[in-house]
Amino acid sequence: MYTALALIILFRPIAAIVERSASPNFCKCSVHTHCWPNAQVWDEFNTSVSGQLIKTQPLAIPCYPGPQRDEALCAIIGAQWSSATFQSDSPVGLSYPVNLSCPPINVTAGEKPKVCSLGTSPVYAVNATIPEHVASAVNFARGHNIRLVIKTTGHDSLARSEGTGSLEIWLRHLRTGIKYQEFFLSSHDCHETRWTSSTFTIGGGYTWTDVIPEARARNLVVVTGGTPSVSSIGGWMQGGGHGPASRQFGLGADQVLEAIVVLADGSIVTASPCQNPDLFFAIRGGGPGTYGVLVSATIKAWPMLHVAVQHLTISSLTNDSAPLIDAVSILFNAFPDLNDAGYAGYGSWSLASGYGGQLYMFNQTVQYAKNAFDTTLRALSPYNGTALNISISYGSYPDYWTFYTSESGYEPPVGTSGGGLGSRLFDRASVQNITALREMIGIVTGTPKEMAFNNVELVSGGHVFADAHDPYSGVNPAWRRSYFSNIVSRAWDKDTPKAIKAAIQHDITFVKTGAMKMLSPNTGAYMNEADRLDPEFERNFYGSNYERLARIKVKRDSKSVFYCPTCVGSREWEDDSEGRLCRRRERSL
Ligand SMILES: Cc1cc2nc3c(=O)[nH]c(=O)nc-3n(C[C@H](O)[C@H](O)[C@H](O)COP(=O)(O)OP(=O)(O)OC[C@H]3O[C@@H](n4cnc5c(N)ncnc54)[C@H](O)[C@@H]3O)c2cc1C
Ligand SMILES: *[C@@H]1O[C@H](CO)[C@@H](O)[C@H](O)[C@H]1NC(C)=O
Ligand SMILES: *[C@@H]1O[C@H](CO)[C@@H](O)[C@H](O)[C@H]1NC(C)=O
Ligand SMILES: *[C@@H]1O[C@H](CO)[C@@H](O)[C@H](O)[C@H]1NC(C)=O
Ligand SMILES: *[C@@H]1O[C@H](CO)[C@@H](O)[C@H](O)[C@H]1NC(C)=O
Ligand SMILES: *[C@@H]1O[C@H](CO)[C@@H](O)[C@H](O)[C@H]1NC(C)=O
Ligand SMILES: *[C@@H]1O[C@H](CO)[C@@H](O)[C@H](O)[C@H]1NC(C)=O
Ligand SMILES: *[C@@H]1O[C@H](CO)[C@@H](O)[C@H](O)[C@H]1NC(C)=O
Ligand SMILES: *[C@@H]1O[C@H](CO)[C@@H](O)[C@H](O)[C@H]1NC(C)=O
Ligand SMILES: *[C@@H]1O[C@H](CO)[C@@H](O)[C@H](O)[C@H]1NC(C)=O
Repeated sequence: MYTALALIILFRPIAAIVERSASPNFCKCSVHTHCWPNAQVWDEFNTSVSGQLIKTQPLAIPCYPGPQRDEALCAIIGAQWSSATFQSDSPVGLSYPVNLSCPPINVTAGEKPKVCSLGTSPVYAVNATIPEHVASAVNFARGHNIRLVIKTTGHDSLARSEGTGSLEIWLRHLRTGIKYQEFFLSSHDCHETRWTSSTFTIGGGYTWTDVIPEARARNLVVVTGGTPSVSSIGGWMQGGGHGPASRQFGLGADQVLEAIVVLADGSIVTASPCQNPDLFFAIRGGGPGTYGVLVSATIKAWPMLHVAVQHLTISSLTNDSAPLIDAVSILFNAFPDLNDAGYAGYGSWSLASGYGGQLYMFNQTVQYAKNAFDTTLRALSPYNGTALNISISYGSYPDYWTFYTSESGYEPPVGTSGGGLGSRLFDRASVQNITALREMIGIVTGTPKEMAFNNVELVSGGHVFADAHDPYSGVNPAWRRSYFSNIVSRAWDKDTPKAIKAAIQHDITFVKTGAMKMLSPNTGAYMNEADRLDPEFERNFYGSNYERLARIKVKRDSKSVFYCPTCVGSREWEDDSEGRLCRRRERSL
């Protein structure tokens, strides 16, 4: 028995090597392999996509020696680098690249260019403007066994819109219109969602910046990201999608009533409760870039709201970090009750800057909101004026979009190869034991030298819990009982030595996210804002839906035309030392 097992283990690598050279589909084709299509084949493909094929090059190439060097252009690129929109406007622009393989150079500051390469960016991109371009690109990638990447905005921080030596389907310019329906009628007489009020049908790579004016003009609310530059029906929605209105009206994925999807076989199909219900389930929160390419989706629109807002800031009056940790623990402990009372919101804290947050309630008066915070205020008050400076103010907005543009809608700077990030969802039980909670808060807050930063998002509860019984929801079930998510991050810069980066990543994955997992063992993490190196991403990002999603993945994409790291089925694949995507050698026993 033991001997047989040992033999299997011993011979496994040899068998894999044989298979690698024998089976053409063991690795995807890359630029340097003989199976890569020649120039004529690419030209023919270009013709089939109406000449929309782009040979990509690094965004900051004008900063580097060579024929394209242009100092003035380099300065312009440098000045716009941290704009999410600037990055989105390039087929290879990324908000949070894993590796910055061609950083912009600030000549004024005396920076000298080192090396510039495409790195993990795709080598070709189809600038798709109609769904048929998407289908052609899928067919081409499948037919030639080429690694495929889908990108709308490039906001992803888990490397899911990157891929060395790949062909990209770039959806930024797929804009077939945003159509309003006052009373929803499904495209094929499907009544199962029972939604009869207003909808918007979003045709392609629009961001919320594009959709919000359409809703606002009709005095309606749609659930968007807190940041409007994320795409509306791409990764944000397919991974779950939270925002300022999600407690009130549900997650982004829960808004979708039907969708049009380009599948791995190149067909363009409708996904709804009546047509391809498995696909409908999977794209509504079961992860982006996995089952097909969404080219359209119809979402719910809701009646206008008025808003009461609270601003809370907490700063330390001494050098002792303990009172700040106490105060954050009091807030975490109170979040489930505050949320049940109607509150949602965001907060962030660090040792250097204290805590700052904003909570809000819809369709309630400021007085009602104040009363709902009373118990929490009483717990915080003893610290005020002695160890902490606690300041609270209230305000109100007559309508949701005035609130959104003033209080949310913030575009953080992007473009740097960040650092480590991990997150966790918290249910009521996980924040009950104040002693254990305080220990966890202490660990994620970290030491002054670590410069850790935490973001807490009280975006669940309410309608997110009520949608738990949606039979077509692929969202991580942990969302249906977790009130909030906490994200812990630590940054590094491009000159940080490798060993220090590794130590930071280890601290994030195992110490800080580890502490959150220990406190909240039965929940999971929000896949769109999670640790890309989570060793148990299947369980944490997808929960009990994983097996069902994995079956849909096999059924809909048996050849793995679609791949992205941490996506369903991705453990079957790995990057090899030559930058190729290959089937993983060691299979779990
Ligand atoms: C500045 C910023 C703010 C954010 N704010 C929020 C927030 O408020 N709430 C929140 O929930 N998340 C937020 N996020 C996280 C966000 O949800 C993820 O980054 C998400 O991946 C973005 O999706 P995207 O389509 O815009 O990005 P992309 O990088 O273009 O795509 C992300 C993933 O989706 C896939 N994809 C994109 N389009 C399609 C498509 N049409 N069909 C199939 N697959 C597709 C890609 O292949 C990739 O796997 C934020 C991120 C950033 C950078
Ligand atoms: C594709 O065709 C268009 C139009 O002919 C051309 O401008 C473009 O450079 C071509 N792309 C590639 C990669 O050759
Ligand atoms: C480049 O460096 C100069 C001088 O240090 C600074 O003033 C400028 O803001 C920098 N530009 C960018 C785009 O970072
Ligand atoms: C990032 O770049 C470094 C140095 O070139 C390399 O060692 C590392 O593997 C790269 N990481 C990824 C995820 O590509
Ligand atoms: C992509 O296509 C759009 C629409 O045709 C066009 O406006 C845009 O310039 C193209 N972008 C690139 C980089 O080719
Ligand atoms: C909120 O109040 C507005 C009027 O200000 C009303 O139209 C809307 O239906 C209310 N929404 C909810 C969810 O109570
Ligand atoms: C806090 O620390 C700083 C720097 O270490 C020191 O200068 C300051 O005196 C300290 N303040 C208090 C109140 O202890
Ligand atoms: C307390 O915080 C408020 C708001 O941030 C600020 O205006 C005030 O000056 C602070 N007071 C002290 C004593 O630090
Ligand atoms: C904290 O104390 C300051 C100064 O005494 C006071 O102005 C402020 O209102 C107090 N904060 C709260 C939340 O009670
Ligand atoms: C609360 O957590 C602490 C620290 O982890 C633990 O020692 C204690 O037993 C817990 N209390 C309860 C009631 O579970």
